[in-house]
Amino acid sequence: MAHLKLGMVGGGQGAFIGGVHRMAARLDGCFDLVAGAFSSDPARAHAFAAELGIADYRSYSDYNEMAKAEAARSDGIDAVSIVTPNHLHGPIAEAFLAHDISVICDKPMTATLAQAESLVEAAKSSKGHFFLTHNYTGYPLIRQARQMVADGALGDIRIVEANYLQDWLSEAPAEDNKQAKWRMDPAQSGGGAIGDIGTHAHNLACFVTGLHVTSLSATLSSNVAGRLVDDDARITLQFEGGARGHVWASQVAIGNENNLTLAVYGTKGSLRWVQENPNVLWFAELGTAPQMITRASGAASPAATAVTRIPAGHPEGYLEAFATLYREAADAITNQNLSGATLGAQEGLDGVRFVDACQRSSRDKATWIDLP
Ligand SMILES: NC(=O)c1ccc[n+]([C@@H]2O[C@H](COP(=O)([O-])OP(=O)(O)OC[C@H]3O[C@@H](n4cnc5c(N)ncnc54)[C@H](O)[C@@H]3O)[C@@H](O)[C@H]2O)c1
Repeated sequence: MAHLKLGMVGGGQGAFIGGVHRMAARLDGCFDLVAGAFSSDPARAHAFAAELGIADYRSYSDYNEMAKAEAARSDGIDAVSIVTPNHLHGPIAEAFLAHDISVICDKPMTATLAQAESLVEAAKSSKGHFFLTHNYTGYPLIRQARQMVADGALGDIRIVEANYLQDWLSEAPAEDNKQAKWRMDPAQSGGGAIGDIGTHAHNLACFVTGLHVTSLSATLSSNVAGRLVDDDARITLQFEGGARGHVWASQVAIGNENNLTLAVYGTKGSLRWVQENPNVLWFAELGTAPQMITRASGAASPAATAVTRIPAGHPEGYLEAFATLYREAADAITNQNLSGATLGAQEGLDGVRFVDACQRSSRDKATWIDLP
């Protein structure tokens, strides 16, 4: 595996996901972080770059300046990670793609549908790749579940249930809660629970089943006085081929930390997976007792073991799943080898279309909306 040079935009002091991306990028030794524009505040950006050991001439005040300068260097970055609030993903990604620098961007791809459509075009005309980090797709047993559905182990898919429940926004957040602040502003987030975690549930349902959502009916609500975005989203889904399902995404479901669950039911069997216990996948065939498949056991398939790092019984989780996406991005950039599991701008557009359709449906009394 080649050693690639990575830049980062966002992910400064006190940020949440930037640090996770830095650890994940390093885990398999595929990337070295050599440049960044870590904050919108230049002084904070430079101070944090120094803390990370980034050379001062590769610490930037502004992402446009960074894209231009890195493209001009003979040892410029091979890829940039975008870990800023949602409304900046599109403009930042386009700035780097315009210089043929690959982009590794967190979800949702953009804050608006217009930004997503523009980014899809920018990705098409760039020599750089665009990667979307829906990290739950990197878990070994999610890869196995996906393979089992594709191999027909469940028969024809009838029902898909994906829930993502949290409780950290059950009350008005403190003024200095950085993560909550931009998420509560519709202009920066593009939506509340639906964009923040509903997109994960939607993506996971589609990733595992290989099915596209063809229409939906949604009810989004806001349960805390003065809140401008939704914090609870209930969606009924129809999938291509006739399967039906639900997504429930909530940030006011008290007692839930990061309770993402997926259940898929077919004509022959079912699968159930729980993110808070990710090294276990339950498989039931009609007429038999449910089987517990564990991550690195004899029941683990090649799809799972290909993205497993440590022996059975030692838990793997969030960081490793992210690292798998980084390893696959590095492979795609180095060898032009796009694994079938890699998510790009099209999946990003699907996610933003999902959010947009949910918002339109909910504004119109949960009317059914068709998706392209
Ligand atoms: N995949 C996941 O599990 C997951 C989890 C959390 C967040 N996310 C996504 O990651 C992104 C960031 O979320 P977060 O919770 O880390 O937010 P955060 O508020 O903790 O961090 C955002 C960072 O971006 C920086 N920033 C803002 N404007 C900037 C600019 N113009 N130039 C450079 N830096 C700028 C801020 O200073 C801050 O350091 C969001 O898109 C979110 O949806 C994904």
